Amino acid sequence: MVSPMVRFVSHTMFGCVLLVGFILVQVSLLRLLIFDGFKEATSPLPNLHRIDRVMRRGNELLIEKYENRSRDPMELRWCKKIGEGWTKVVYECEGVAVKVPNTVGKNLRDCLEKEMDTSLKFRSEVCKRHLIESLIKDTITMTTFDGDPMVPELIAYHFPADSSTAERFQVSTPLGTPIDTISLLSMDWVDRMKLVQNITHFMQRNADRHFADLRRQQFVMINSLPHLIDFGDINFTANRTASSIHHAARLYDDFIDHFVHVGAPGGIDREILALAKLVNRHELTLDHIDEFIEKVVK
Ligand SMILES: *[C@@H]1O[C@H](CO)[C@@H](O)[C@H](O)[C@H]1NC(C)=O
Ligand SMILES: *[C@@H]1O[C@H](CO)[C@@H](O)[C@H](O)[C@H]1NC(C)=O
Ligand SMILES: *[C@@H]1O[C@H](CO)[C@@H](O)[C@H](O)[C@H]1NC(C)=O
Ligand SMILES: *[C@@H]1O[C@H](CO)[C@@H](O)[C@H](O)[C@H]1NC(C)=O
Repeated sequence: MVSPMVRFVSHTMFGCVLLVGFILVQVSLLRLLIFDGFKEATSPLPNLHRIDRVMRRGNELLIEKYENRSRDPMELRWCKKIGEGWTKVVYECEGVAVKVPNTVGKNLRDCLEKEMDTSLKFRSEVCKRHLIESLIKDTITMTTFDGDPMVPELIAYHFPADSSTAERFQVSTPLGTPIDTISLLSMDWVDRMKLVQNITHFMQRNADRHFADLRRQQFVMINSLPHLIDFGDINFTANRTASSIHHAARLYDDFIDHFVHVGAPGGIDREILALAKLVNRHELTLDHIDEFIEKVVK
């Protein structure tokens, strides 16, 4: 026979064990949450995949498909947003630039307005698909420059299978620093001219391409060398001379005009004037820019 006292104590102890057990479970759940968050914040880009194989066959490009799930885009909140354009948002994640789609950007908003006659849900799917397709196309264009020292290495990518996971699209490349007016003007004149020459040589090596929308913002510095980071509006050219004139005019506007006088050595005014005249006559080519820099940088 168990006395009421013993029964009371044993019940109370059982209650205490339950309570302590309950608290322990809560604490470990909380720990799990905290430490998972912590791990995500500090681990170097987990689960991002290197491209296994990229094969070129004529104008075709085959990228080996992988099944593994990429990082959830929510994890990007631990990365710092460093830029935003019409189609994409760029984050800095531990020294790597990660591009994801801009699902509230101008590109998507314009598309949503255009497809007015369909249901909102359908419209949103179509527009997301267009957006992802254009980002994939740009990434593939980037890989067709294979090996060019002024095209960033593709560290990792994820192409979503359909529009329902469109947000998961991402492309990672080494992080660069923008080439803005201040950084250009604070450079030594000779270094500035050498930078322009690097870009001129890049355009000359790729003379079979037409870069319709060439701008200074499309380049960043990685390891002291300018790199092209924007691959929209690039196709093969039908007329190399016409493309060279187009590219030279864009380089002149964005890198030479306003910049060539600052810190220039004496006695090159005639060369600068000759360059300006060629631009005005729509005759300046990449070869002219290259010759000019060769002549004035000794
Ligand atoms: C997917 O992940 C597994 C385990 O991490 C790995 O063994 C496998 O090679 C990966 N597959 C691809 C195609 O990346
Ligand atoms: C870039 O310019 C520097 C300085 O002129 C030169 O040493 C280097 O070889 C150039 N690199 C490329 C890839 O054009
Ligand atoms: C390439 O783009 C330019 C400018 O956007 C365009 O004029 C030209 O027709 C295009 N060429 C080809 C082959 O698509
Ligand atoms: C190529 O472009 C140049 C410069 O615009 C022009 O003079 C030339 O006639 C073009 N060539 C052809 C084959 O269209």
